[in-house]
Amino acid sequence: MTAEILPTHTPQLFQSAVRRAAELLRAGELVALPTETVYGLAANALDPRAVAKIFQAKGRPAHNPIIVHIASVEMATRCVTTWPEVAEKLAQSFWPGPLTVVLPCAKEIPDVVTAGGPTVGVRWPSHPFIQAVIRECGFPLAAPSANLSNQISPTNAEHVRKQLGAKIRLIVDGGQSQVGIESTVLDLTTEPPGVLRPGMIHEESLIAVTGDLVSHRRKPLAGGETLRSPGLLAKHYAPKAKLVVLDWRDTADLRSRIAHPASRTHIVAHTHIPSGEGFASVSVIPHDAEAFARAIYAELHRCDAAGAELIVVEALPETAQWRAIADRLRRAAA
Ligand code: TXA
Ligand code: MG
Repeated sequence: MTAEILPTHTPQLFQSAVRRAAELLRAGELVALPTETVYGLAANALDPRAVAKIFQAKGRPAHNPIIVHIASVEMATRCVTTWPEVAEKLAQSFWPGPLTVVLPCAKEIPDVVTAGGPTVGVRWPSHPFIQAVIRECGFPLAAPSANLSNQISPTNAEHVRKQLGAKIRLIVDGGQSQVGIESTVLDLTTEPPGVLRPGMIHEESLIAVTGDLVSHRRKPLAGGETLRSPGLLAKHYAPKAKLVVLDWRDTADLRSRIAHPASRTHIVAHTHIPSGEGFASVSVIPHDAEAFARAIYAELHRCDAAGAELIVVEALPETAQWRAIADRLRRAAA
């Protein structure tokens, strides 16, 4: 199988890609679709046989539940057994957008989606393409990130093609993902709610709506939380190359900290830009959390494709806006 890649950059192309994607999804096939966070590998969430194909294509362990994507609050309420006031307030503040809420699962959602668990993660993505496909289909879409299990999430159609192009029929090209890292996953089954996976909607923004958060008082995302969300195991989202996060003052300082042949070392910097001499590459992402999140996975994909042995990323600020990116780099370095 070789995936067809459909562009969406004119209204006509967009509409015909929507129709083709919906046709395959109705037939129980997988389709890779753009979202604003990362590309998703979608199947009809109500069709257990279709969802099972996701696990097969990704090599995903069966115990890892999949997020269900919807395109209205009404559709979200049909996936869950309760829709508490806090969910309504969060939806009003952050949907459509990069927030997944975890709630008790409705019986319509097959076990394969929830990994047999009692809860389901629900998200209303803001990317117009996946919204149009969900509306056209009329059913919710189960979609993990469209990468092989444990590899870096894709932020453009080419990343998807490299990992899954031989395993699926269709990849829709909706451009570069605008957020660039995966959604914030928030567990609403505890009081107060708890962040299971940090994302670009950070704790301070959530607290403005929820009043309090579990992870705000406990140590965030250490080992203790992992069983609630298998995707939070320490090693996840990893490039093939070894990745380290380092602080340096200048080029000489950086060189002194790397015990590795510079010719196979790729540097990703945002503030202290070293001279490129000797390094395989030096790339610069602006010192801005949103810009950094949007670009970092593409940089890691690029370094891997170039045969990097070591990727050195400049240490990030410790403020709220950067926390989710730091979390992903920690996992990539684990
Ligand atoms: O931004 C995103 O969330 C992307 C796009 C495609 O929407 N999706 C994504 O899916 O990142 P995935 O499967 O790669 O990561 C989903 C994470 C995993 O860590 C999984 O364990 C967790 O969400 N998760 C899903 N359902 C859950 C549930 N019911 N309870 C706890 N954790 C859940
Ligand atoms: Mg993933």
